[in-house]
Amino acid sequence: MNKNKIELRSDTFTMPSKEMKEAMFSAEVGDDVFGEDPTVNALETYCAELFGMEAALFCSSGTQTNQIAIKMHTKPGDEVICHELAHIYLYEGGGIAYNSGASVKLIAGDYGRFTLNQAKNCINKDDIHFPSTRLISIENTVNRGGGSCWDFEEIKKISDLSKANGLKFHLDGARLFNALVAKKETPKQYGEVFDSISICLSKGLGAPVGSVLIGSKTDIKQAKRIRKVMGGGMRQAGFLAAAGLYALENHVDRLSIDHKNAKYIAEILKEQAWVKDIFPVETNIVIFKLADDIPFERFLNYLNENEIRASGIGNNSIRFVFHLGQNEAQIISLKEHILKFIA
Ligand SMILES: Cc1ncc(COP(=O)(O)O)c(C=O)c1O
Repeated sequence: MNKNKIELRSDTFTMPSKEMKEAMFSAEVGDDVFGEDPTVNALETYCAELFGMEAALFCSSGTQTNQIAIKMHTKPGDEVICHELAHIYLYEGGGIAYNSGASVKLIAGDYGRFTLNQAKNCINKDDIHFPSTRLISIENTVNRGGGSCWDFEEIKKISDLSKANGLKFHLDGARLFNALVAKKETPKQYGEVFDSISICLSKGLGAPVGSVLIGSKTDIKQAKRIRKVMGGGMRQAGFLAAAGLYALENHVDRLSIDHKNAKYIAEILKEQAWVKDIFPVETNIVIFKLADDIPFERFLNYLNENEIRASGIGNNSIRFVFHLGQNEAQIISLKEHILKFIA
């Protein structure tokens, strides 16, 4: 990556540090399809223990962990309840239908969250006309909600609702560690209320590849079979798992720096007359809408000319994502370029 370039498109652009690469190079590896990669096994045990759950499975991506979880919890004709902005629905290539043959009931709600009552109203009656509601899935933090965090009390209530109705409860926790740091919560709290949790190592945590699905022994045994069918059985994957372990051990607490940077830049944006609206900033994502007379392409081009990369996300809105690939000087430079933009 060009060192002068400020990369705000996503925290997936993060590069492994020298120390992370050293951990990767020195990893002990084996054939993980045979269950003999000690570093993959160590990562899976670490994650299961961290969340107080029974087992875990190292996978290639967040899409893969989510899709495996949905397939493991449902059968064709079942229905999944999720938010209309959910990554599993919007950005996983129609995977819920493609991989699991399940239908989806979408909920609207503030910044990608919904309430117990909204979820309750979406559970179908036991009637042969309706799909069988089988799974509730939430995302924390919510990517399209501008990195919004759920209220843990609401999560607990939805977990109880799931149990009372014989449903499964899945968490797309691609950026769960951002929520844990922002809200001072613990992985074990989450392990107690979900049937399955997907975490990503390759976003704000800075590993090059990998996600982990965490759940019960029985579910993870089935997940391993589904991963194999999807072509996701990897061999000497310990080189990648070593990066994930390094990330979990060294890059969680520092997420607060990204949150601070996001809030700092959001405050500057709020003061600009050409910013029409801005989402509340809780973690490392800033989403803002430009004034109607400023097409988003013009703003993105301006940033591009100044070696700053950001994304347009529709509705004349821009997304900035903060991560460990940005240093203090770059944040100051970003601020100065925002101030110099002539609307
Ligand atoms: C909330 C959320 N879930 C899942 C994913 C999928 O992760 P991957 O890109 O590793 O498939 C992403 C990716 O950005 C995401 O933001």
